[in-house]
Amino acid sequence: MVKLGVNIDHVATIRQARGGVEPDPVAAAVIAELAGADSITIHLREDRRHINDRDVRLLNRTIKTRMNFEMAATEEMQKIALEILPHSVCIVPEKREELTTEGGLDVLKQKEYLTQYIKPFMEKGIIVSLFIDPSVEQVKAASETGAEFIELHTGRYSEVFSTKKEDDAFNELRHAAKLANELGLVVNAGHGLNYWNVKRILIIPDLYELNIGHTIVSRSVLVGMEKAIKDMKKILAVK
Ligand code: PXP
Repeated sequence: MVKLGVNIDHVATIRQARGGVEPDPVAAAVIAELAGADSITIHLREDRRHINDRDVRLLNRTIKTRMNFEMAATEEMQKIALEILPHSVCIVPEKREELTTEGGLDVLKQKEYLTQYIKPFMEKGIIVSLFIDPSVEQVKAASETGAEFIELHTGRYSEVFSTKKEDDAFNELRHAAKLANELGLVVNAGHGLNYWNVKRILIIPDLYELNIGHTIVSRSVLVGMEKAIKDMKKILAVK
């Protein structure tokens, strides 16, 4: 069964709306794990707009499953990640003005830089994943950096879900996952997945983990985090 990584950045986004202390992403991570999350994803942004340094420190001591630390490929983030030693890092592009991570990393353009950048993580036994668009060029470039994992960006598929363009976007993902598996990469996927569009993604063979945030936190507001996670786990178990 494909694993479920729960992205709790969105809990911190709600906290940020009032600039106070609730809801606490640390409490969310505990409940998510008790409800069956296989890992917890957090993105420490350069501007600390949702997850902050206090969260990272506490989550690092409380997460019982695996911490997947999303980060831009900067010197500051590398230093932090090498201090906290998460189970995995997922390298993402980051733009200050974006609402959420918009596109995948351009690995092709920064192949040499990324190859060097990820080495210290691998030397420490931290799994490295590169968040990329589902294109042949990006998959090939990712495999050449030495990274063991990729996370395929499902944003386009999610956007065009239920329109005439859905098949094309789905096939892009399916082909990219197949190629990545052939090249020996472990494949995760995420971004924009929800309780409806995730079902078709499960057809893709050999996906390791789906990282899902917004839809789970949205449902949690209405029915509670435990139920929101159990509902998603039930869907993933159907495959
Ligand atoms: N994977 C990555 C790399 C992301 O940046 C995000 C968004 O924070 C997600 C997965 C989860 O996306 P969503 O919140 O749309 O489920």
